[in-house]
Amino acid sequence: MAFPINRLRRLRRTETLRKMVRETRLAPDDLIQPLFVCPGRGVKRPITSMPGVAQLSVDNVVAEARDAFSAGVPAVILFGIPDRKDALGSEAWNDQGEVQRATREIKERVPGMAVITDVCLCEYTDHGHCGVVAGGDVDNDATLELLVREALSHARAGADIVAPSDMMDGRVGAIRKALDQNSFARVAIMAYSAKFASAFYGPFREAAESTPQFGDRRSYQMDPPNGDEAIREVALDLEEGADIVMVKPALAYLDLIWRVKQKFGVPVAAYNVSGEYSMIRAAGLNGWVDEDRAVMEVLTGIKRAGADLILTYFAKDVARKLSA
Ligand code: PBG
Repeated sequence: MAFPINRLRRLRRTETLRKMVRETRLAPDDLIQPLFVCPGRGVKRPITSMPGVAQLSVDNVVAEARDAFSAGVPAVILFGIPDRKDALGSEAWNDQGEVQRATREIKERVPGMAVITDVCLCEYTDHGHCGVVAGGDVDNDATLELLVREALSHARAGADIVAPSDMMDGRVGAIRKALDQNSFARVAIMAYSAKFASAFYGPFREAAESTPQFGDRRSYQMDPPNGDEAIREVALDLEEGADIVMVKPALAYLDLIWRVKQKFGVPVAAYNVSGEYSMIRAAGLNGWVDEDRAVMEVLTGIKRAGADLILTYFAKDVARKLSA
């Protein structure tokens, strides 16, 4: 029945009425805080292209994790920035590396918090690619073994979830098998399943010092126009044992968050990436948009599209506002 019987504005009249019929509610439990761990003590190195975000030494990472947890954020995801880089990225599986030490410390000092570790080699290789370079390209199968070493090292440090972000074929299966054979059956895998070769990773590469020294990542990350292929990536990762699948970036790929959630009904994460963060911050700092409202609107939209979990550099601040 149409107007004038039906007037949808009736339930928009007051904030109380709006709250009563609100369909999507963002909660602190939905959020995951990314943190960049660098060497040293007492270090806090601001990232120019991400105002408000810094590389932190282990002690500061623990403090930041504690703050986020008390704001209601259940998990952090850690990215390591090592002192030494080499062709294979061997610092990635150093049990005394930054991520491994931060994981142990957070598990000890903020016991309720879940620790997720990003499993990739680009932060650790001198050429900045996500695997072993051979003949000008990344060698898929040779890389798997190194990713396995890294994931096992993170598991030994106490990671609750490992998150492979390299986009090599077969890495979820290889990591699952190795975890199970080494009595880490309890460690979960959050797969960066549909990860696109995106312009929106620019600021992250400054943060993680992981810009490729030659070429780009298009031979392993997905081609942005492809949606059906993203569904195949997710299906394969689930077959290989992924517990959570991720779509990344979030905003230009909301259709895929929706499709993945509808089709598979598994836990879906979406990464509101560095470039998406920096765009809102830049516009906010210039007074061009109301930053607080823009952030809530974007994150609520990602959740409405079907994301159960959102990785966002706004996590702690948003959680604070949500529980205020
Ligand atoms: C790769 C990785 C990247 C991000 C997370 N893991 C970047 C890349 O592929 O260059 C991007 C996250 C962001 O932009 O916020 N290890």
